Amino acid sequence: MTPEQSALLAAAAKAANSAHAPYSKFNVGAAVLTENGVFPGANIENASTNLGICAERVAIAHARMNGCTVIKGIAVNCINAPRNEQGDIDTRLTMPCGACRQWMAELAPDAWLVTNGSDQVYTLQELLPQPFTLKS
Ligand code: THU
Repeated sequence: MTPEQSALLAAAAKAANSAHAPYSKFNVGAAVLTENGVFPGANIENASTNLGICAERVAIAHARMNGCTVIKGIAVNCINAPRNEQGDIDTRLTMPCGACRQWMAELAPDAWLVTNGSDQVYTLQELLPQPFTLKS
């Protein structure tokens, strides 16, 4: 992981403090690196369960609303994901959900993605190899 990627993960950890996750108690932060800086997001849940939104989509929308259309990188940080005895987080707990991957395919297709669950740097091609698209 590069210093830029580590810094984005730190921004995502900070964003997680703004999560509204009283139901899952799973505070997720995300940060997107754009052509004009970093935009954070956090998961926002709702008593009407299906209406919650993930941290990644909040961060992407935040960037768009600030006029940024080039997303170079995305970091996801699940600050209270459980750790095993070795201090490691199960990688699967920090991976973006399918809905977020679909958003990324459309709005951040060239972004790399890092999480606090692994040292690996992912591409969208790896995360969603055959996305639905209306472009021909
Ligand atoms: N969550 C995210 O914010 N990002 C993901 O990629 C996966 C899940 C949130 C949604 C919900 O508020 C909580 O984590 C538990 O599923």
